[in-house]
Amino acid sequence: MRVKLALAPMVNLTHAAFRELVAHFGGCRLFFTEMVNVRHLKSLPPSKDPYLFPAERDRPLVVQLVGREPSDFEFAVRRLEELGYTAGYNLNLGCTKGRFQRYGWGASLLEEPSLVDEILSAMSSSTEREISVKMRVPKGFPRGTFPELVEVFERWRVSFLVVHARSPEDGFKRPARWQLLKRIKEQTSLEVWGNGDVFSPEDTLRMVEETGVDGVVIGRAALIRPWIFRDVEACLGGKNPLPFEEAAGEAVELFPQYLMRFLPERWWSKRLDAFLYWFLQNFSGALFYFRKLLKCGDFNSKVLQVKELVEKAKDVRSYPVAPFLPVR
Ligand SMILES: Cc1cc2nc3c(=O)[nH]c(=O)nc-3n(C[C@H](O)[C@H](O)[C@H](O)COP(=O)(O)O)c2cc1C
Repeated sequence: MRVKLALAPMVNLTHAAFRELVAHFGGCRLFFTEMVNVRHLKSLPPSKDPYLFPAERDRPLVVQLVGREPSDFEFAVRRLEELGYTAGYNLNLGCTKGRFQRYGWGASLLEEPSLVDEILSAMSSSTEREISVKMRVPKGFPRGTFPELVEVFERWRVSFLVVHARSPEDGFKRPARWQLLKRIKEQTSLEVWGNGDVFSPEDTLRMVEETGVDGVVIGRAALIRPWIFRDVEACLGGKNPLPFEEAAGEAVELFPQYLMRFLPERWWSKRLDAFLYWFLQNFSGALFYFRKLLKCGDFNSKVLQVKELVEKAKDVRSYPVAPFLPVR
C-alpha cells in the first residue's frame, strides 16, 4: 500500500522550525504552513513575514490562507507568487474558532458556496499553482451545501480536498467520523485526503483501508511524535517504529536549534512552550511536567529540563498517542 502523508496546518505550531523537525525524520510528503490571514499580506511583504518563512527540507510547502474577501485572496496569492518556493495554496474552510465565526472565515464559508466560488476564482486568476481546500464536513451532509460545494471545487479544478471528519458544530468534542470520509470519497471525483484522530501508524493504514482516501493528514499526533510519518513508512515496510528514546532525544536536541535558525528571537520561547504542551503528552504525567517546565523561566533552562526528562524516559506512552489534554 502507498499512502500520501501530510502534516496538518496548526496555528503557532507548524512554523518553519517544526516543519524542519518533521522533515528531518522523513516520511512526510507534504507540508502546510499554519493559516495565514489574507489581510495580513497587505501590510507585510511575504518574504519578511515569519509566518511564511520556509525551512530547508519542508517541501513541497503549501501556504494555507484564511479570510473572506475574494479581492484579498487575489492580492494575497499574487504577492505570495513572489516567494517562489510555494507549491500551492490551500483555502481554509475548516477553522471554527469564535473569532472566525464572527468574521465569517474558515468553516463559516461552508454555508456560502457562491462566495467560495468567487474566492476560488480570485485565487485561480493569480496563480498557475495547485489550489487545494481543507474543510470540515458541512452541516446537513450529504445534502445541505455539500453538493454545491463539490460542484464549485470541481469547476475550479481543486487539486485535492483535505477533509477533517467532523462537522463545524463538533469542535473537537466528539470523535472524528471516518465513515463520512468514505461517503465523501464516493461523491466526488476529486482526490480526498482524510484527517482527524489518526494517532498511530496503524490508524493511518486503517483510515486508508476503511475509507479509500488518497492521502492522510496528521495533526496533533505529529506534535506529540514529530517522527510519526517515518513510523508509518516503517509500518508499511513491515518494520518497527523508531525507539522512543532515540527519536525523542533527537527531537529535543534539534527543535530548539531549528527555532533559533528559522524564526525570530521574539518567537522562540512561546513557540517552545506551544510545542512542549503537545510533546510532553508522550508521558502520562504531561500536565505535571508542563507546569513544572513553565515555571523554570528562560528558554535554555526549559530545553535542559526537557532533555533530562527524555533521558530518563519514565512513564512513556506507546502508540496510539491520542492527546489527553484539550486543544488550546
Ligand atoms: C492547535 C491547533 C491549531 C490548528 N490550526 C489550524 C490551522 O491553522 N488551519 C487548519 O486548517 N486547521 C487547523 N487545525 C486543525 C488541524 O489541522 C486538524 O484538522 C485537526 O487537528 C484534526 O486532525 P488531528 O486529529 O490529526 O489533530 C488546528 C488544530 C489544532 C489542534
